[in-house]
Amino acid sequence: MTNVDAILQAGLAAVEAVSDLIELEQVKARYLGKSGELTELLKQLGKLPPEERKAAGATINVAKQAFETAHNARRDLINAQKLEAQLAAESLDVTLPGRGLSTGGLHPVALTLERIATLFRSMGFQVADGPEIETDFHNFQALNIPENHPARAMADTFYVEGGDVLRTHTSPIQVRYMLNNEPPIKIVAPGRVYRVDSDATHSPMFHQMEGLWVEEGVSFADLKAVVTDFLRRFFERDDLQVRFRPSFFPFTEPSAEIDVLGERGWLEVGGCGMVHPNVLRNVNIDPEKYSGFAFGIGLDRFAMLRYGVNDLRLFFENDLNFLKQFN
Ligand code: FA5
Ligand code: MG
Repeated sequence: MTNVDAILQAGLAAVEAVSDLIELEQVKARYLGKSGELTELLKQLGKLPPEERKAAGATINVAKQAFETAHNARRDLINAQKLEAQLAAESLDVTLPGRGLSTGGLHPVALTLERIATLFRSMGFQVADGPEIETDFHNFQALNIPENHPARAMADTFYVEGGDVLRTHTSPIQVRYMLNNEPPIKIVAPGRVYRVDSDATHSPMFHQMEGLWVEEGVSFADLKAVVTDFLRRFFERDDLQVRFRPSFFPFTEPSAEIDVLGERGWLEVGGCGMVHPNVLRNVNIDPEKYSGFAFGIGLDRFAMLRYGVNDLRLFFENDLNFLKQFN
């Protein structure tokens, strides 16, 4: 067993010579692996005379431990050097200019909603709102839409369990507001509405803004003046041509569609009319004393017109490249 020390010295020198973890493991295998040099010595113990075995075994084990200690120390050193090199390479240069945080922005429909609400506030309207899940009473019945009316066809309404509906327009907010407030009432009410509808100018979820002015002596002339004034201010054109085209809504009488003259001809932007006496009675307002007008405009259509977007669905795809253009 005289060569134990020579083998150990060679092993320790080999450990000190490597600077790479893989090579270090190869050195370890050469000495402590299955047929490593120190392992082989242990295997040969059986060939020694019994009285020498114990001492020889102890010597080899001491050599093994010395090798392992050196090996572990070398491994820790290599790891520490690696970490140091990595830290040096990745260290922060605090003198570099910042990359800048990108700030979010409002959605084009939200920008349009804000702009329209601001215009109406400046004309003395207050902003009201209501729930998106409505009762049949608020969305239909109180608005003079009886049970068998075609406007209720299952085809355009999302019903929820229990018979409530995803509101199909913002008009139920009129009902809620009039039930809870006395005239004079002068509100606009924006919000999401839902219909079973889908193409380039119709989305199953879209946005409307309701307008309602109920007071003594409010006339159709007031309706035309307020709506025309609003449209001219929104589109920033004093000569904007506005048309009130006779139409029908169960909750207004008379009723009209609001059209504006654009580059491609007349375009419908909403509906309007004088609040139907039945609706006033349904909310306990005396139609002999008070009159009012209401309108409902499509906010997404206003956003399309203002920003020159030709497909409504682009607004709801959440494509950042599209949305970033508006901020
Ligand atoms: C109504 O919803 C009535 N409640 C408006 C009203 C209010 C009339 C008060 C009288 C008094 P209409 O279904 O036409 O009307 O919708 C109004 C506007 O919403 C339309 O002119 C259009 O601009 C927009 N709109 C309707 N359906 C969609 C849709 N699926 N996607 C996007 N915009 C739509
Ligand atoms: Mg319409």
